[in-house]
Amino acid sequence: MLVVVKDNFEEVSIEAAKLFASLVRRKPDCVLGFATGSTPLGMYKELIRLHKEEGLDFSKVITFNLDEYVGLPPSHEQSYHHFMWENLFKHINVDPRHVHVPMGMAENIDEFCLWYEEKIEECGGIDLQILGIGANGHIAFNEPGSSLGSRTRIKTLSTQTCEDNARFFENKDEVPTYAITMGVGTIMQAHELLLLASGAAKADAIRATVEGPVMAKYPATIVQLHEFATVVVDTDAASKLEGDYSGF
Ligand code: GLP
Repeated sequence: MLVVVKDNFEEVSIEAAKLFASLVRRKPDCVLGFATGSTPLGMYKELIRLHKEEGLDFSKVITFNLDEYVGLPPSHEQSYHHFMWENLFKHINVDPRHVHVPMGMAENIDEFCLWYEEKIEECGGIDLQILGIGANGHIAFNEPGSSLGSRTRIKTLSTQTCEDNARFFENKDEVPTYAITMGVGTIMQAHELLLLASGAAKADAIRATVEGPVMAKYPATIVQLHEFATVVVDTDAASKLEGDYSGF
């Protein structure tokens, strides 16, 4: 696992965008795994800039998103579909037929989850998966206690995650309590992982992820076992790390 500490959120975002852009240039039909949340927003902004100013071409890229709330239609402002189109897809030349975000309104969720797993495999697997991290150590919506071998499925959101997400909804009661999420095992099958974190609120989760024992209590700790995982954090998120990660 490569740990890279940057000065601030902007530098984290630029570093992450560099990795994505170099993959897209090297392999124009690559399979990219995207995430929501505030953390990847800076990277998406930089990818949009690279597309607009340097012609970075996404026309052949295939994308899979990590997760989606159950019960929110794609048109809902807080759905992850909406988030991805507003913050990235509508600004680049991705082919809408190549975009996959879990369907929170699927009639048969179990069948949908199986289909999602098969589709990822059919596309050759995810080449590079971006990950944020919840303050409780969750990745995607794999909350503490998630099986480290889990596949795409429906999950109940923890109280902390619902509270963290409440800021995006007008009314606390509107916050969805279920989500469809790629499993920890699904994420681990991506050829490469890139986990980003910024801010002091993530410092405990980053310490557990980078230096703690691997355990289901902090699903993000599983990245320690991935052959090609990079963790890019700013100095605030890195503030509780004990190791010396300078020199990169
Ligand atoms: C949600 C998403 C995660 C994301 C997390 C952290 O729970 N499902 O994929 O990593 O939020 O979000 P933020 O980056 O806003 O801290």
